[in-house]
Amino acid sequence: MAKVLVVTSGKGGVGKTTSTAALGAALAQSGKKVVVVDFDVGLRNLDLVMGAERRVVYDLINVVQGDAKLSQALIRDKRVDTLYLLPASQTRDKDNLTAEGVERVMNELKEQFDWVICDSPAGIERGATLAMRHADVAVIVTNPEVSSVRDSDRIIGLLDSKTEMAERGDRMEKHLLLTRFDPVRAERGDMLKVEDVLDILSIPLLGIIPESAEVLRASNLGTPVTLSDAASAPARAYQDAARRLNGETVPMSIPSDKRGLLGKLFGRRAA
Ligand SMILES: Nc1ncnc2c1ncn2[C@@H]1O[C@H](COP(=O)(O)OP(=O)(O)OP(=O)(O)O)[C@@H](O)[C@H]1O
Ligand SMILES: [Mg+2]
Repeated sequence: MAKVLVVTSGKGGVGKTTSTAALGAALAQSGKKVVVVDFDVGLRNLDLVMGAERRVVYDLINVVQGDAKLSQALIRDKRVDTLYLLPASQTRDKDNLTAEGVERVMNELKEQFDWVICDSPAGIERGATLAMRHADVAVIVTNPEVSSVRDSDRIIGLLDSKTEMAERGDRMEKHLLLTRFDPVRAERGDMLKVEDVLDILSIPLLGIIPESAEVLRASNLGTPVTLSDAASAPARAYQDAARRLNGETVPMSIPSDKRGLLGKLFGRRAA
């Protein structure tokens, strides 16, 4: 049975698209059939991070409007053959995404894939609610700073009210992905500590992705970071997060400022 995952945040620029690509690639590498869907109509970023921008012919809006078949719009990754992209439109208006059309496309995707991963636009408006509407699982991407944590809290409220699951009276499975974590700045007090974020949001922790130049490098190469340098710290953190999404228990460690030493996070079991 397919799982629909929304990668969401409220605040912009926190790492949703980066995380969608990295988690999608890691899940696909574990043998799952994965599609990453770009709901950020007008900005169209996921295709760049996936290195597929020159291969986009049809997009989500074309399929939603019935101008193209799903099979015509899906782009198969050249590196991992169980990984696909459904791109967004850069030029069309996001009002073209009708709720009924999105529902039809999501149902079709669920029949074909193990994981449908929706990259949400920033904000709490229509685009974000459409991206989360059909989800079974949410990954809430948060940076260790007050404004990001506050917006994540608002998104959690929407996940508990504006989704199909909420309307059925079910509670959505939610995971916190803390990204751009810099242990030196957290230690200095310039950033929130992991414990502070967990205390405020009180949802289970899926992973901690360190701030790393490797992420930008991978993005410039058009390669999910889990594929560009699988041994790098952010890639390993994303691989562990993907394993946890698959139901494995993987010990969690907080990146530490003392090189070579990892602060183990006891008592806070991963989801
Ligand atoms: N762990 C990280 N280390 C360093 N840079 C990062 C990290 N994660 C993301 N970035 C950078 O942060 C910027 C924003 O990332 P990204 O586009 O993934 O965010 P987003 O939440 O999708 O943004 P938007 O809300 O605009 O869609 C990018 O330049 C990306 O390379
Ligand atoms: Mg984005």
